[in-house]
Amino acid sequence: MCGIIGVTGAGPASRLLVEGLKALEYRGYDSAGIAVQEGDGLVILRRAGKLAELEAAVAELAPFGEVGMGHTRWATHGGPSERNAHPHVDSKGRVAVIHNGIIENHAELRAELAAEGCEFRSDTDTEILAHLVASRLAAGDDLPAAVRTTARRLAGAFAFVIQSADHPGMLVAVRHQSPLVLGVGEGASFLASDIPALLAHTRTMMPLDDGDVAVLTPAGIEVTDLDGTAVVRPTKHINWDPVQVQKGGYKHFMLKEIEEQPAAVSATMSSRIDDGTGSIRMEALDALGDRLARVARMTFVACGTSWHAGLAGKFYVENLTDLAVDVDYASEFRYRATQGGPDHLIVPITQSGETLDTLGAMRDVKAQGSPVIAVCNVPESSAMREADATILTEAGPEIGVASSKAFTTQLVALYMLALDLAVRRGCLTHEEAATRIVPLRRLRYAMEGALRHADQVRAVAHRFADAADFLYLGRGVNYPIALEGALKLKEISYIHAEGYPAGEMKHGPIALIDANLPVVVVATPGRVYEKVLSNIEEVRSRDGIVIAVCEEGDERVKSLADEVLEVPAVDEDLSPIVNVVPLQLLAYYIAERRGCDIDQPRNLAKSVTVE
Ligand code: AGP
Repeated sequence: MCGIIGVTGAGPASRLLVEGLKALEYRGYDSAGIAVQEGDGLVILRRAGKLAELEAAVAELAPFGEVGMGHTRWATHGGPSERNAHPHVDSKGRVAVIHNGIIENHAELRAELAAEGCEFRSDTDTEILAHLVASRLAAGDDLPAAVRTTARRLAGAFAFVIQSADHPGMLVAVRHQSPLVLGVGEGASFLASDIPALLAHTRTMMPLDDGDVAVLTPAGIEVTDLDGTAVVRPTKHINWDPVQVQKGGYKHFMLKEIEEQPAAVSATMSSRIDDGTGSIRMEALDALGDRLARVARMTFVACGTSWHAGLAGKFYVENLTDLAVDVDYASEFRYRATQGGPDHLIVPITQSGETLDTLGAMRDVKAQGSPVIAVCNVPESSAMREADATILTEAGPEIGVASSKAFTTQLVALYMLALDLAVRRGCLTHEEAATRIVPLRRLRYAMEGALRHADQVRAVAHRFADAADFLYLGRGVNYPIALEGALKLKEISYIHAEGYPAGEMKHGPIALIDANLPVVVVATPGRVYEKVLSNIEEVRSRDGIVIAVCEEGDERVKSLADEVLEVPAVDEDLSPIVNVVPLQLLAYYIAERRGCDIDQPRNLAKSVTVE
């Protein structure tokens, strides 16, 4: 959703702001803008559409001021247009604001300002902030005090940044349930909604807590609470390499990230396997201490692709342990009657660590006494900082909006969590668990093998790039992979696709099958292999087109399918992690063939920070 960047003291701000906004493009946006101090005033440049529009405007005007802020907007209140693009300013153009999230009581504040004679120039919930801060400044507050007083009046989940022409060199930022991280430089201070936007300048970051107000100047950063009491927020070194957020010669981040998966899954497992004993140690389980012994049930809560990982996680935990597992959409779970408690382990799964529904669910169950282990890919994200224990997936920054390497590393993390839980609960011996480590360690080679079939996948993609609909089928641990394959195709190619458990096909979707419908079936060996072959027969006998994901050299599947996407042989438990690779590539090559904007698909945001 909206992206925020700010800088003071690092040289001319406008170029850094545009570069920072480019690093935030992946969040999804429909307009963009910057504010830069110029002389004793503020230059505001805003454009609807892609960043290139704003970049051209900035290049033409070339503002030279050294303090400024930039924003990419994903419309919530007011349509996508230049009029609604941030920054917004007060009536005199002396105070500017950029904002992420939603001000829930904006209508009443707007009415109050209108009654005082304020004229609005946008349809957003954001603009009130500039007017409110300006009126506090007129009443004699200094800038930080004016911002704090304004912030105390707001309801909702938000982060915003204020810049005033009368306070040169200074940015004042507020975080309340919407991500905001500060960057510490030499003689310069930075802020952003996401870490990747700052990596080019510093890896020393200062994450903020909810209710923090930060004052940034070139001399440093001071943080207070909303009442002005100073608080200390420690800095953290972020291990991500700036190179990881560059395309590195690839046409799209998504393809780069698909190809990074073998290394990403290895990185996720390596520090958690003891080479000496061959055992797995998930520190997150240690971190729960005595609370772990009380756990009698478990629920994965997540959204989108991460929810698909949860479905596979259920399969793993239920197969390996004695625990009953539920998987729920975070947005549904939050509003159910039955939620947490000390015997109910909750595992939120979130790539970004900032998905509002997942965070909301997590906060609710924590308050009810549940132990919470977050599986997350972004260090210092809200999920990582608020959970009782964490499992960091080591995918590195994922920029493509459509998740790929974050998903496969989630699957690895969940499999390892299940194995360790199984040993701790006495459901597996150390020796039994250790026999599963060797195939796990070899997983990267199977993924590399799957990637070597990219030409085969591309040919199939080109054959079906004009199809109007797709059906994806899978069973058991590969049912979530059918869902994930369909989601990938929908997200980046805009082709309608549905994923189903193959056994459910007869109960409705079979009516869709005709000679025009490509049906993608995950048909690798395992306990439901024969059943899946029967499902393929059912599709064939209704003239459906079968595209099967199968093990290399599987002649039975080859004889039944119209097209195959081959993958190397692996254990059934690990097969989803390999089988999803050709489905990611299939979606990618179809979207590429259709000329879609693969890294920033329409209407989508990388991290969904509103309900
Ligand atoms: C994945 O391709 C999607 N963009 C989306 O479904 C995503 O998985 C979902 O929004 C959850 O995000 P999170 O993992 O950051 O919480």
